[in-house]
Amino acid sequence: MATLIAPSLLSADFKHLEEEINIAVASGADYLHFDVMDGKFVNNISFGLPVLKCVARCHPLINDVHLMIDNPKKYVARFVDSGADIVTFHLEACKNKIEVFDTIDLIHSKGAKAGLSIKPGTPIKEVYPFLGSLEMVLIMSVEPGFGGQKFDESALDKIYYLRKYLENNDYKNVLIEVDGGINDITGPKCVKDGVDILVAGSYLFGHEDFKERLEKLKING
Ligand code: DX5
Ligand code: ZN
Repeated sequence: MATLIAPSLLSADFKHLEEEINIAVASGADYLHFDVMDGKFVNNISFGLPVLKCVARCHPLINDVHLMIDNPKKYVARFVDSGADIVTFHLEACKNKIEVFDTIDLIHSKGAKAGLSIKPGTPIKEVYPFLGSLEMVLIMSVEPGFGGQKFDESALDKIYYLRKYLENNDYKNVLIEVDGGINDITGPKCVKDGVDILVAGSYLFGHEDFKERLEKLKING
């Protein structure tokens, strides 16, 4: 499968959001990645439901929503109603396994795909119990909260072991996404270890050669 590219709007110029999205579309992006932060789960606040709702239907890409928020179960349905095609929440934001399963079920009951994300300090085996119910695992390669950080190489082992685990256990429908510090050096390393989707923010937005950069991520993958 060709590598899928998900530009992260966190690095876009919000004054010209529609134009920024149009550039991502014209450059061959596959997903549009929305980083939602609540100032509690992470040490930053970004944007949320109204922004997603405004732009979710102004483009043909898959709306890939990454919730970095406490108590995701309370909000996932509203993100689907606002246009999310995939809703990813953090394992660390849930109290226990039951809450993780309930949140996944809620996302599915609204007709969207469900993703589970882990921070750099969380071992990959923590996601294994949920793989039978998920469409995506998002491996963070930076501490969530800010764009423009350096790629954490520990993500590579996680990608590698998760890919092997998916293959060995016949989980055919789970995609692996990686997020944080992705560029033309780190992206290909992730692809080599078995990632499906590369999220990239500061490497793409704010550069005249957005399209060439995105193509490099695809080709090198
Ligand atoms: C970090 C976000 C990332 C971030 C990626 O909390 O989840 O999506 O925007 O930005 P770059 O590609 O600049 O590391
Ligand atoms: Zn993200």
